Amino acid sequence: MLGNFVYCNPTKLYFGKESLDNLKGELSKYGKNVVLVYGGGSIKKNGIYDKVLTILKDAGKDVSEIAGVMPNPTTDKLMEGIDIARKANAEFILAVGGGSVIDYAKALSVSINCEEDPWEKYYLRFEEPTCPIVPVGCVLTMVGTGSEMNAGAVITNPKTKLKIGHVFQDESIMPRFAILDPTYTFSLPHYQMVAGIYDIFSHICEQYFSGQDYCTSDYLAEGLMRSLIHASRIANANPLDYEARSNIMWTATWALNTLLSRGKSTDWMVHMIGQSVGAYTNATHGMTLSAVSLAYYRHILPYGLPKFVRFARNVWDVKTDGKTDEEVATEGLKAMEGWMKELGLVLHLSELGATEDMFDGIADGTIILNGGYHVLTKDEIIKILKESY
Ligand code: NZQ
Ligand code: ZN
Repeated sequence: MLGNFVYCNPTKLYFGKESLDNLKGELSKYGKNVVLVYGGGSIKKNGIYDKVLTILKDAGKDVSEIAGVMPNPTTDKLMEGIDIARKANAEFILAVGGGSVIDYAKALSVSINCEEDPWEKYYLRFEEPTCPIVPVGCVLTMVGTGSEMNAGAVITNPKTKLKIGHVFQDESIMPRFAILDPTYTFSLPHYQMVAGIYDIFSHICEQYFSGQDYCTSDYLAEGLMRSLIHASRIANANPLDYEARSNIMWTATWALNTLLSRGKSTDWMVHMIGQSVGAYTNATHGMTLSAVSLAYYRHILPYGLPKFVRFARNVWDVKTDGKTDEEVATEGLKAMEGWMKELGLVLHLSELGATEDMFDGIADGTIILNGGYHVLTKDEIIKILKESY
């Protein structure tokens, strides 16, 4: 049965080739002082930076830049950006990049006018902003996180080895607009493309493997998974296939734009373990998830057997005749593993630079949630890490 919920998603999306043409009109709604946020330089190589800067200048904006936002953005980088944005009297933040850049922009938006330590307030105490926020808009260049249409912002504190995501309740923290041109993702290296694809798949699984009843979200989730598997195989063979890349981009947005989770419980333990692995290794987000997923799902399978049977049947077309539920469910995970190998995903933590002496700390840094089929203990997390090694 669906629980009570509120659904509001104010992000305006512009999707498709040349959708950057809409940037100028959107910028006219905001103040003159714009802070442009981007990553380590990919947008300079593929020409997106020049296009965006020309539009900003044509729109008469005073532009300050925060460059070099790294994958898995850090607390130190956040503090540096707060300083730049305050000096520039930032009225609008334009993020051009992937999830790291957009998450960073959101964290910045709630920190510029905040008098407290943002890490402590938002990431340790999980408080909502009590100061005026600076609006964010984004141009997406890397597909996976769904950050373009949600209020999540993940920040890493390398000193304490904690990587924490805060999904803000206030929807005004979601990007006011998001520009999604699938051709902008063509320059992504294969490793990033498939890491993003797995991130999408994992977001859907996290919201699928929970609850006992047959709810609307689960049917939506199965459709999204089937579309993603189909398009990922085409993109894996030909990364320049526009149709496949555009379907992947659109699936990523729907996988984590707050729709699927409405009215049902959600799991998120693959992400909690993966994020802690990320805090210790600084590895690519999607690969931290692919490395621990199979061991995690094999571990919780007995607790959520009917859903794993449904997953095998409805997502992987496993035939059920004459088989036990356990056999069907196990075949489903086997099919998933086969697809992961096909894409070339990382399936072992050792490939990400993790070492066994880190496992105790990774387990301690894993936030244990209770929305899935089974609440893990620290020992179980260590067992999953060992099996993923
Ligand atoms: O920094 P540059 O030079 O731009 O290079 C980036 C980066 O090295 C590169 N890249 C991006 N677009 C490109 C490109 N290279 C060539 N061509 C392009 N068009 O890709 C690399 C990875 O970028 P990043 O933004 O780090 O990837 P992603 O989008 O996967 O974001 C990862 C971050 O998002 C968080 C993760 O934890 C991680 O910190 N997440 C955010 C979520 C949310 N807001 O809801 C949910 C997710 O589960 C996730 O936790
Ligand atoms: Zn993710």
